[in-house]
Amino acid sequence: MFENVPAYAGDPILSLNEDFQRDPRTNKVNLSIGVYFDDAGRLPVMSAVQAVEASLLQTVSPRSYLPMAGHTGYRDAAQALVFGANHDARVAGRIATLQTLGGSGALKVAADFLHRHLPASQIWISDPSWENHRVVFESAGITVNSYPYYDPDTGGLRFDAMRDAIDALPERSVVLLHACCHNPTGVDLDRSQWTELIPVLQRRKLIAFVDMAYQGFGDGLEEDAACVRQLADAGVPLIVASSFSKNFSLYGERCGALSVVCRDAEQAQRVLGQLTFAIRSNYSSPPTHGAKLVAGVLSDASLRAAWENELATMRQRIKAMRGKIHGGLAGHVDEVLRERYQSQVGMFTYTGLSEQQVDRLRDEHAIYLLRSGRMCVAGLNQQNVDYVASAIASVAANPGAKE
Ligand code: LMR
Repeated sequence: MFENVPAYAGDPILSLNEDFQRDPRTNKVNLSIGVYFDDAGRLPVMSAVQAVEASLLQTVSPRSYLPMAGHTGYRDAAQALVFGANHDARVAGRIATLQTLGGSGALKVAADFLHRHLPASQIWISDPSWENHRVVFESAGITVNSYPYYDPDTGGLRFDAMRDAIDALPERSVVLLHACCHNPTGVDLDRSQWTELIPVLQRRKLIAFVDMAYQGFGDGLEEDAACVRQLADAGVPLIVASSFSKNFSLYGERCGALSVVCRDAEQAQRVLGQLTFAIRSNYSSPPTHGAKLVAGVLSDASLRAAWENELATMRQRIKAMRGKIHGGLAGHVDEVLRERYQSQVGMFTYTGLSEQQVDRLRDEHAIYLLRSGRMCVAGLNQQNVDYVASAIASVAANPGAKE
């Protein structure tokens, strides 16, 4: 029956991470997947999460189904983190927020909702964008296009071209924007660019779909969410996919949220109902454990403070590693390329390394980056950063050679 099923080509991020796990070399360095490792190269279990986990273990509770929309305390905490506890739209009950299976689950649920209720709308994603954006939206039946974003010559943003392209979109188009720590480039809009873009979205009657997978990894929890709040303040129709994978280090628990900001509370109830239907038709209802961990931390003032401190330490460590590799590459790579390690923000740097150079880093030095040249800077640490810098210097000095 299945003889015509073709082999899966694999995913450019997750399959590479699996290749890394299988690599027997002891000097290997994983800079591929967007996962934060600490300075000892370990995946952190945050202390506030450990405290809630320990308290959950005190009473083994029955495992009922959660409501389709998810854990109530989690939904409220996730919404407050994204929009701010006292945001007008939140106080007015105008935001429909649901628990989802990670940020990817939020994208999929929203994609199904959009396909069903705005079937003529197409989506525009940045060029480039996270590899899975196109896959998720196309799989839901939505046509995916792109708008100009990254400038490979400068390592910065093509803001004018981006704004002009968005200014020419048909009404009711969906524009996917990254709130902070753009994946894969590490290049974000600054405050004045958001301020310039928002009236364009309004004038053209577009829907902003913000993906915020890295809140807290850029400039801070509030700063990273500022554009979301600005969009909501301006009354732009707004969808937000958010995630606790990175900022709670809870990747495998699949803790995400989807929020849709509506005109009024009655509309929000209808939208919530249809999003709930999208969840029911995909996986029925979400799991409990991760939601309890997140809600437990965010509802307790001292655990929340501990979490915020630990997150700040993670953010600072990434910045320190950026400085360190930037220093280590001095004199070894072109200055325009070297500056990117400092100027780009969050977990990723778009190194400008060619596919061939990336292959050589993997084959000759056991260092894994995406073939697009994306490096997860959060995989660098005091023990491996000099080794990585010297390996990059060697492939940059001799771009064609196979040693
Ligand atoms: C990444 O971009 O590496 C992460 O978001 C992990 C993933 O699922 O692709």
